[in-house]
Amino acid sequence: MKKSALLLIAAVAFYLAIPANTFAQKATYEGVAVCSMCHKTEKAGQQFKIWQDSKHSQAYKALETAKADEIAKAKTGKKAVESPECLKCHTTGTDVDKAMLGPKFKVEDGVQCETCHGAGSLYKPMGVMKNKAEAVKKGLVEHKDIAKYCETCHNSQSPTFKEFKFDEMWAKIKHSVPKS
Ligand code: HEC
Ligand code: HEC
Ligand code: HEC
Ligand code: HEC
Repeated sequence: MKKSALLLIAAVAFYLAIPANTFAQKATYEGVAVCSMCHKTEKAGQQFKIWQDSKHSQAYKALETAKADEIAKAKTGKKAVESPECLKCHTTGTDVDKAMLGPKFKVEDGVQCETCHGAGSLYKPMGVMKNKAEAVKKGLVEHKDIAKYCETCHNSQSPTFKEFKFDEMWAKIKHSVPKS
């Protein structure tokens, strides 16, 4: 056998020996437009509408107000939308590499699906979504203690914080899949 053929065989064998996940890409943030494609209908549970009608969809815009700039000036010396100290609870995607943001992702969408559920490029295919264990493997974040999770933002580090009543607040944004 020619030396070049042997080299080729060696190269293929080497490639096959590498575990498949060596080249696995990191999940990217897809944006609410992508999630909403399948999470919009009444049958699915209208997660998109519930989110859109909630304050979470306005959380970035809340930083564009005069009130926000006044709070930010005192705390950070900058405008609110230029302060990482404010952005961290009011949106997603400002503290990651731009390569982590898909073409439809918008920072202006504030606290959005993937803020709470994790970057979705790998779990968004239908076949994965229907299998929770698989989806979790591909980056879907589960929340065992929902109230504790909410309190990672709804706490006294928020300059406008007063209190957080979980039951009342969860009732305002919960978005279950209807039992069929
Ligand atoms: C191609 C369609 C499709 C897309 C796109 C999609 N989903 Fe899903 N998703 C589904 C289906 C179908 C289910 C299963 C619903 C059920 O329980 O019957 C599901 C379930 C879920 C669940 C519940 C998982 C569980 O079992 O507890 C979450 C959370 C979720 N999706 C979030 C998202 C987010 C966030 C995005 C955007 C990154 C997204 N989905 C994009 C179709 C989709
Ligand atoms: C990433 C940070 C973050 C997380 C996590 C978060 N929130 Fe929020 N939430 C916000 C911000 C910021 C606002 C204010 C948006 C505005 O006023 O425009 C808000 C506002 C709200 C509001 C509207 C307040 C009102 O008085 O009507 C409700 C309800 C709410 N959140 C419920 C929840 C619940 C329930 C959870 C947990 C499942 C949760 N939030 C998790 C950041 C977060
Ligand atoms: C620890 C998370 C967190 C941080 C940090 C944070 N916020 Fe918020 N912000 C929230 C939450 C949650 C709410 C809604 C409930 C509340 O007022 O606590 C909110 C509400 C607001 C509101 C009221 C919106 C309305 O509808 O009236 C403004 C304005 C605001 N934040 C500005 C800021 C500014 C400016 C900064 C930075 C100096 C900041 N926030 C930092 C979590 C945070
Ligand atoms: C403020 C955080 C937050 C936001 C924003 C959010 N979710 Fe959720 N979502 C949760 C929590 C908490 C649960 C319940 C516990 C869990 O399954 O992790 C949940 C549950 C779900 C479920 C499963 C419901 C069931 O009956 O099992 C789906 C589907 C879902 N979310 C989709 C979405 C989609 C799509 C968006 C955006 C349009 C979105 N979520 C926005 C926090 C959020």
